[in-house]
Amino acid sequence: MIIKREIIETSDGSKTIHLPEWNENYHSHHGALQEAKHVFLKNGLADYAQQKKINILEVGLGTALNAILTCQEATRANLEIQYTALEAYPVSEDELLALNYESLLDDEVAKSHYQNIHAAEWNENHMISKNFTIHKIQAKLEVCKFEENQFDIIYFDAFGPRVQGELWSLEIFQKLFAALKINGLLVTYCAKGQVKRDLKSAGFVVECVPGPPGKREMTKAFKRAVQV
Ligand SMILES: C[S@@+](CC[C@H](N)C(=O)[O-])C[C@H]1O[C@@H](n2cnc3c(N)ncnc32)[C@H](O)[C@@H]1O
Repeated sequence: MIIKREIIETSDGSKTIHLPEWNENYHSHHGALQEAKHVFLKNGLADYAQQKKINILEVGLGTALNAILTCQEATRANLEIQYTALEAYPVSEDELLALNYESLLDDEVAKSHYQNIHAAEWNENHMISKNFTIHKIQAKLEVCKFEENQFDIIYFDAFGPRVQGELWSLEIFQKLFAALKINGLLVTYCAKGQVKRDLKSAGFVVECVPGPPGKREMTKAFKRAVQV
């Protein structure tokens, strides 16, 4: 995917990457940081905080904003997180510098964790802290194979269905459903009707909850045990 990327500022002061040809952003223009916290931390990770050991898959590592926020929360709540992050088109060092996400992080430890997440080699496990291990996979979701019953949470943070409909297909949702453990959760910012219908067809129990500022709803999709 060779497509122009530029850095823009969002309404909460945090920056994001904008794709002018698609008129699409990596995060909400209403606020990158507040969206990441609301969708993936408050409506994703928080549901599992009692569990201590949590296995997460992120679809679309991008800037690693979700990853560093999750890493920080793992330290704060003394969780043990194994974070698998899929990315087909990694961001460049120049883009990371321009985004300046380190300015959003309150301490030197978090800043160094953020650098280490980006420096971690692809396709191997890296312990970023005693609470957070990352395994970055440079590949397209469409060709990735996952073990069954592997993840507690999937942060589904692909570009929207308007521009990358192929990543929001029934086939992809069936693959992600199989990769989740029973009572696992796929969480996404998107609340489009067709996406919710396809998630249901793939076997998920779908719940709509209020979205981050500027967005009425977002989606939580659970894998529940089959009732016999
Ligand atoms: C909405 S952005 C994700 C933002 C990211 N979570 C963050 O915190 O910056 C979508 C990401 O999916 C990646 N992507 C696009 N097509 C993909 C594919 N086929 N498989 C895996 N990742 C893909 C993009 O390169 C981009 O980084």
